[in-house]
Amino acid sequence: MRMIKLGIREAGAKAARGPLAVAATALLTATALVALPQSTAHAADTLGAAAAEKGRYFGAAVAANHLGEAQYAATLNTEFNSVTPENEMKWDALEPSRGSFSFGNADRIVNHARGRGMAVRGHTLVWHSQLPGWVSGLGTSDLRSAMNNHITQVMTHYRGQIHSWDVVNEAFQDGSSGARRSSPFQDRLGNGFIEEAFRTARATDPNAKLCYNDYNTDGVNAKSNAVYTMVRDFKSRGVPIDCVGFQSHFNSASPVPSDYRANLQRFADLGVDVQITELDIEGSGTTQATNYGNVVTACLAVSRCTGITVWGIPDKYSWRSSGTPLLFDDNYTKKPAYHAVLSALGGSDGGGGDPGGPGDPDAACTAAYTTAEDWGGGYNGKVTITAGRSPISAWAVNVTMTPPQKVSTVWNGSPTWDGSGNVMTVRSSWNGTLAAGASTTFGFTVTRNGGSTTPPQLGPCTAS
Ligand code: G3I
Repeated sequence: MRMIKLGIREAGAKAARGPLAVAATALLTATALVALPQSTAHAADTLGAAAAEKGRYFGAAVAANHLGEAQYAATLNTEFNSVTPENEMKWDALEPSRGSFSFGNADRIVNHARGRGMAVRGHTLVWHSQLPGWVSGLGTSDLRSAMNNHITQVMTHYRGQIHSWDVVNEAFQDGSSGARRSSPFQDRLGNGFIEEAFRTARATDPNAKLCYNDYNTDGVNAKSNAVYTMVRDFKSRGVPIDCVGFQSHFNSASPVPSDYRANLQRFADLGVDVQITELDIEGSGTTQATNYGNVVTACLAVSRCTGITVWGIPDKYSWRSSGTPLLFDDNYTKKPAYHAVLSALGGSDGGGGDPGGPGDPDAACTAAYTTAEDWGGGYNGKVTITAGRSPISAWAVNVTMTPPQKVSTVWNGSPTWDGSGNVMTVRSSWNGTLAAGASTTFGFTVTRNGGSTTPPQLGPCTAS
């Protein structure tokens, strides 16, 4: 595991220092890398670099068919130091017919990642979903050998290249029963299939961390209690398990639980690592940013929380894109949630309203932008101003437009313009007085004039 940790740290250092320094770094010995200072004069300015300074990885789920898109690859390569193939390592992708393996797309992702010093999470070996039809038709002994053969073949192919494997995914039911979910594995092999899968996995790649991964287990509840009981039993009997993955798919119906950190900690206390494996949070603006910041802060508060993976890069490629749950918008612009995550990791990219952006706990006020309506030729922008720890009586923020876009109307704020006509300073009008933590909004209408879709850029919020 030592080598893996070095790989992550190397990737973080790479993200922090640029290509020339990367080449130099690659020549350094592992020992020299360990000796690199953990804090630098400047805060880390990418997610991966900031996480590496905290001894963690920061990863993204990646789809092979997007790697050829320049902005997708550039964002991945710049910001992240771990990847999880989103679908390419699932059973239907790797073994579509019995004994016939097709590693092409998964290999593309692994090679892309490892060629750039990124770590790779394997997802997933045994899961009831995305199973090819032939598996469901097998009898008990055939299914047992098919499961063990699948684990063995796949882990052998990637031996030494995967830092953590989701060995078994989503084996428990939702709701209050705490029961196992019905699946070909559960129904034919019984409760013991999970233990058997982990034992086969350990025998195949003793250096990979072996994880159980699930959703709706992010707070203390009946489902997470059932997983907890299983992990405790495995640890007491010496069944090989190293980590538990908390998928962390959140929205208003399934918000970040208030006992998220406590739940991670109780699993860590069993002697396993915990990882946030599929993070996405539906929403926008300050609310989404605050939720993301809270998740990162919870992970950092648990020493065995070894890394975070977000389930995609731009919103448009999310499995639930309409909920805009990711850190980059459709144009790969960093969202307020991005700045909240970077800030929570202790980093700063010096822009995007940070400091003074969402997630900056020390700011007198913060400003967060969302597009409220978009009709193609123009749009309405909305900025939420939130007071920090103290009340304020006035606020101001700079809004920079990309020409030839022009602002036609502003409401709930008083604008003045710089000489270029592209930067407007909006000051509070009737809505300057805010209690600590309270918010107000102002809005404006923009005409694109045939120009780009680039959203306005906010400067830091200032208050008096
Ligand atoms: O690639 C085919 C395409 O050729 C075809 O035209 C199209 C028609 O529907 O389907 C495409 O495949 C889709 C695939 O995503 C790739 O986009 C599948 O239909 C679709 O079912 C599949 O969804 C994936 C889902 O798992 C399947 O359960 C999502 O991308 C993936 O994000 C999601 O990931 C899961 C984790 O593995 C486990 N935890 C929950 C998480 C979210 O559901």
